[in-house]
Amino acid sequence: MKSKVCLVTGASSGIGKSVAAGLAAMGAQVVMVSRDADRAERARQEIIASVRNAKVEVVLVDFASQQAVAEAADHFNNKFPRLDVLINNAGAHFSRRHETTEGVEMTFAINYLAHFLLTNRLADLLRKSAPCRVINVTGEYHRKGKIHFGDLNLKNSYSASKATCQAQLARVLFTYELARRTQTTGITANCVHPGAIATRILDNDPDASIFKKLLYKLAMPALDPPEKAAETILYLASAPELENVTGRYFINKSAVRSSEKSYHAELALRLWHVSRQLTSHDHAEPCFV
Ligand SMILES: NC(=O)c1ccc[n+]([C@@H]2O[C@H](COP(=O)([O-])OP(=O)(O)OC[C@H]3O[C@@H](n4cnc5c(N)ncnc54)[C@H](OP(=O)(O)O)[C@@H]3O)[C@@H](O)[C@H]2O)c1
Repeated sequence: MKSKVCLVTGASSGIGKSVAAGLAAMGAQVVMVSRDADRAERARQEIIASVRNAKVEVVLVDFASQQAVAEAADHFNNKFPRLDVLINNAGAHFSRRHETTEGVEMTFAINYLAHFLLTNRLADLLRKSAPCRVINVTGEYHRKGKIHFGDLNLKNSYSASKATCQAQLARVLFTYELARRTQTTGITANCVHPGAIATRILDNDPDASIFKKLLYKLAMPALDPPEKAAETILYLASAPELENVTGRYFINKSAVRSSEKSYHAELALRLWHVSRQLTSHDHAEPCFV
């Protein structure tokens, strides 16, 4: 991975931090996209302390703001001559419904829409850098997911699991549609279920009850560490045999079938168009057409 430039979102903790450390250990130049300056800097210092000659830097962005995501992508486009691996990993869990200032339900906005925007905004750079790889972190909850086109923001009926399932399915559909759009360009798009991983995801949830947090803490010993999740993501980022593999869903380094619904090309196309409407403020913006 020497001379490769890799961007990892949500790299300040959990799975993303472990992936960033793994990429740095392989010699890649790593850009950690993070929201919280202190946490991001602490994570960067930890990586630098554990990996000799680590090339790691931080770009700060709050994924709840489309403007911030667009600005971060533009900053990246201007600063870096190439992008070899984009890992869309940042995510959050909301026990109660919250909206971004742009009026999008938070889970959908952070876990999916911000990454749709970021990836499209980096389209020209990715095309220029081919062969390159886009990896979307999603999860097995996509199997229960439904895209609620009539109520994408779940205003009428919200639950954390409904929002998580919708966002995870959206990430899988996005991966497959991106793979169709980038066929023959040298860009691959794959997605991954990281496993059941012990992280601080509930710490960011402003409304998680003490009981829910306690249950999660009690379950932690039975969960895998973030390093385990990183194994498959690092494999997707670096394995030479995957250079032409695209549009697949991976668990434990193996491509497996995702839900039947996730293969509906019309559903993916509809989601793409809606996502474009929700994120595009200027038709001249770069996009995978
Ligand atoms: N853990 C699991 O078992 C599991 C299972 C399936 C899928 N996943 C997915 O794996 C991904 C990583 O989660 P994790 O378990 O590693 O949780 P985590 O430790 O909480 O990491 C989440 C990362 O996303 C960042 N993030 C959250 N909200 C953000 C925002 N508004 N703007 C920018 N960054 C934001 C966090 O940054 P801060 O440090 O600033 O909070 C953190 O770096 C998520 O997409 C999650 O849905 C996890």
